[in-house]
Amino acid sequence: MDNRPIGFFDSGLGGLTCIPYLMKALPEEKIIYFGDTARTPYGSKATSTIMNFSREIADFLVMSNVKMIVIACNTVSATCLEDLRERFPQIPILGIIDPAAKKVAEDFGSDDNVGIIGTKVTIASKAYERCIDEHEGKVNIHEVACPAFVPLIEEGIIENDIMDLTIKYYMDDFVKNNDLDAVILGCTHYPLIKDNIKRIYPDLEIINPSSIIVNDIKKVLEENDMLADRSDFRNVFYASDLSENFINMIDHIFENESEEAKVKFLNFDLERGEGK
Ligand code: DGL
Repeated sequence: MDNRPIGFFDSGLGGLTCIPYLMKALPEEKIIYFGDTARTPYGSKATSTIMNFSREIADFLVMSNVKMIVIACNTVSATCLEDLRERFPQIPILGIIDPAAKKVAEDFGSDDNVGIIGTKVTIASKAYERCIDEHEGKVNIHEVACPAFVPLIEEGIIENDIMDLTIKYYMDDFVKNNDLDAVILGCTHYPLIKDNIKRIYPDLEIINPSSIIVNDIKKVLEENDMLADRSDFRNVFYASDLSENFINMIDHIFENESEEAKVKFLNFDLERGEGK
């Protein structure tokens, strides 16, 4: 048993899409979340920059005494997972890509077409394709980067024509030309536009890694005898720039919870993250 919190991080508010699933599956667990809202988006930046930012955040989470780190960001999982595991061998570190890749490898076969939408960095890394291969998946994979989604979502431009047009701009030909059966939301911001995608492409199955990873979190905690049984710790959400949307998202997540989230502002020295 281990009542320390689980550390989650993302480039911004996207990783928050994992939290309701975690709270439902493991209500005793507490969370420290860090959203790097001052430096989002990561998905079009150099790998060395993403690595510097991720190390800073992971250092902060480890100093905050978390028992596990969940990389609630596909871009960081695609580029920095092994580096962070080497840096902190003492705690389990989970990336968001592998659990969803495993599920796709199991659920789809050689007659199926599955699309992956994500940031430029995630798509260029081919991380999903690699993981699906490692799980001996036979499915046909098609990928497209959708770099305008994250800035719009961070601005809260979601339920309107601008977002719908942007989705169609990236996805119309992609869905049609590849005869897609399903699409993986390969960026943790994208569950926030899941309803738009479903409305525009009603026949497309949507695979959401933010919900799938929760089974793996549970499994790793169980295997290491690290499940919490009770905790006096309060959930804490940090942002490097406290945007109104970040606060609104947290209010939204905790709408039906008795628990009250604490939101804090924590700025890093941005100079240090700029190496390319
Ligand atoms: N939410 C992120 C992901 O899963 C990162 C988006 C970004 O910062 O570009 O890839």
